[in-house]
Amino acid sequence: MNAVLQGHTASASALAALLHVDKVSLEYKTPQRVVRATHEVSFDVYPGDRFVLLGPSGCGKSTLLKSVAGFIEPSDGEIRLDGQRVSEPGPDRIVVFQEFDQLPPWKTVKQNVMFPLLASRTLKRREAEERALHYLEKVGLAAFADAYPHTLSGGMKARVAIARALAMQPKILLMDEPFAALDALTRRKMQEELLQLWDEVRFTLLFVTHSIEEALVVGNRILLLSPHPGRVRAEINAHPFDLNSLGGVDFQHTAQRIHRLLFDEDGELQVEPDLRFQDIRISN
Ligand SMILES: Nc1ncnc2c1ncn2[C@@H]1O[C@H](COP(=O)(O)OP(=O)(O)OP(=O)(O)O)[C@@H](O)[C@H]1O
Ligand SMILES: [Mg+2]
Repeated sequence: MNAVLQGHTASASALAALLHVDKVSLEYKTPQRVVRATHEVSFDVYPGDRFVLLGPSGCGKSTLLKSVAGFIEPSDGEIRLDGQRVSEPGPDRIVVFQEFDQLPPWKTVKQNVMFPLLASRTLKRREAEERALHYLEKVGLAAFADAYPHTLSGGMKARVAIARALAMQPKILLMDEPFAALDALTRRKMQEELLQLWDEVRFTLLFVTHSIEEALVVGNRILLLSPHPGRVRAEINAHPFDLNSLGGVDFQHTAQRIHRLLFDEDGELQVEPDLRFQDIRISN
């Protein structure tokens, strides 16, 4: 797996940012009041990045992702993708959510992957089928192309959702806690598979989690957000951690640093009490 991470793009600053998030404030207006979800959040994502938004519940991670997807307009600031201002959803940004039961149950696995390609008129039926089979093979589900979603495990549904998103060949893949509903072992396996897939396909990823461990394994760069409203606390370079690094000294140090940065002023733990991470703390 090291090769996966060592293969990361050259110095980010030498490249133009693909996604430019500039002082973005996001608000929800309810009849009673205005909820400010994020305050002047800025970050740049470069081609081939696996960029992670990490922070406690309510710090605006999902809101930020929805805004990049074009579902929520910033009240202040600007989001640009490939130089174009983001103002509405588009096929260049595909979101994978936590709930894999979003796969329509009356469509086979292959039809599920083909659907967005056909609905967006990206491809004709024949090419869409070829593309769907190509990505199903990439996620190891070629043999299940004609199966229906209810016959699949949670991990397999996750793979279909990823294949469906990648088949659209978006400029950026957006994932909001995509593995949170899976059991711990399947979650670990999906993280590993996502890295393998990235190594083969080299997509650009914006990934939301509130697990420090998952952020360090999946990401090459991590943006730490503090809550109410979400602001940038720090940016961490997670390269070159992977699943083999778990429990290693460097991994522990970085995890602890992140942990300290995410403590609020009262010293309360603000992130998911990750079991592995507690092990790390106890051993020190
Ligand atoms: N539809 C909504 N209407 C009003 N306020 C909202 C709405 N959705 C989210 N919020 C508020 O915006 C803030 C950010 O919410 P968001 O869902 O983006 O957080 P999050 O970081 O994704 O949290 P979690 O880790 O729990 O998913 C929270 O204070 C939340 O209460
Ligand atoms: Mg969320």
